[in-house]
Amino acid sequence: MINFKELATKYKTPLYVYDFDYMSAQYNELKDAFRARKSILAYAVKANSNLSVVRHFAKLGAGADCVSIGEVRRAFLAGIPAYKIIFSGVGKNDDEIREAIQKEILYINVESEAELGRVELIAKELNAVSRISIRVNPNIDPQTHPYISTGLHDNKFGVDLESAKRMYIKANNSAFLDPVGIHFHIGSQLTELKPIYESAEIVADLVRSLANIKIELKFFDIGGGLGVVYKDEVTIKPYDYSQAILGTLKGLDLTVICEPGRFLTANAGYFLTKVLYEKQNGEKKFVVVDGAMNDLIRPSLYNAYHRIEAITNSAKETRKVDIVGPVCESGDFLAKNYELPELEHNDLLVVHSAGAYGFGMGSNYNTRGRSAEIAVESGVDRMIRKRETFEDLIAPELEFLEK
Ligand code: LLP
Repeated sequence: MINFKELATKYKTPLYVYDFDYMSAQYNELKDAFRARKSILAYAVKANSNLSVVRHFAKLGAGADCVSIGEVRRAFLAGIPAYKIIFSGVGKNDDEIREAIQKEILYINVESEAELGRVELIAKELNAVSRISIRVNPNIDPQTHPYISTGLHDNKFGVDLESAKRMYIKANNSAFLDPVGIHFHIGSQLTELKPIYESAEIVADLVRSLANIKIELKFFDIGGGLGVVYKDEVTIKPYDYSQAILGTLKGLDLTVICEPGRFLTANAGYFLTKVLYEKQNGEKKFVVVDGAMNDLIRPSLYNAYHRIEAITNSAKETRKVDIVGPVCESGDFLAKNYELPELEHNDLLVVHSAGAYGFGMGSNYNTRGRSAEIAVESGVDRMIRKRETFEDLIAPELEFLEK
């Protein structure tokens, strides 16, 4: 059990705390589910890109799924080997493509015909061969929040099957491209297996039809997306997930790549915030805390639910409150109509499931420094990111300030 009160006193609030042992357990469970095949779990760095978190997964043997050259550099710094690094994203610029080719990562995941052209041109300039995969958009509804759905033609991601086939033929005929993989990712926080299974079948069929024309791929990249429990969701079991995927690959000799983000980190993370005040406007009750939407934007952006636990001595009966932060926006809330007991100044609130898309989506809005991050491993806590100071925030502007 993590002693949140002690950590809040030691490191102050707002504060992110990550349970590294939980991350290991999640990693091992998922990796084990794929033991029947060669597999790489390429951690989706965007979920929580703290260098020490990425290093933790590197030590467990993970690869990295990156969506900017910044993330690729983080993966290298954290010790992920080049041959386990993937670079995806719909809008890579020339400099990013060049660096990815020079760094000899596993492959660049190409998301459009135009991009394939750029990658080929840049590889030619470098007199190199770029390994690529193509992100296929299987046009399947993943049944998740529309903002995190990515596998429909309405979404900007990937290419349709016909274009993919054309692109593989082009790549195969190029001296500067080596098509090694195929990729799909239909959305995040998925709790239904069927859309994943259906997508895998469509993509595996494409692999077979490519093999028929002598384009032999090596990597079958199923993206990320495994959902987790925030409230009472019924989630997909890793074993059922792997069996559904592996069932579509019969007769194919492919290494499976999976890009989990949320599954590995969401429920390993806690956001700690302290009560500043209680207030009431008419009938409406508010608890004002020191953490805000700039620290954890998921409730404001997606109306996402995070369980919130109050650590207080004044265990009185509960009432419904909105938990709000100091940012000057009505959308600045961590929860609405949430049952909490009456709270006092400095009581601690623990926001659960905050390890994925928490700190990483933070900002400095309202000139608020981002919080510190703490790792807890085998009962020992350590800082993995300092709290940002006012000086940190203004440093990039200060030299331009007119005297
Ligand atoms: N691979 C690709 C290509 C992705 O686009 C993503 C996430 C992942 C892997 C990792 O997905 P995961 O296993 O974490 O579901 N900010 C949103 C989530 C955005 C996900 C974007 N892509 C949220 O807070 O819910």
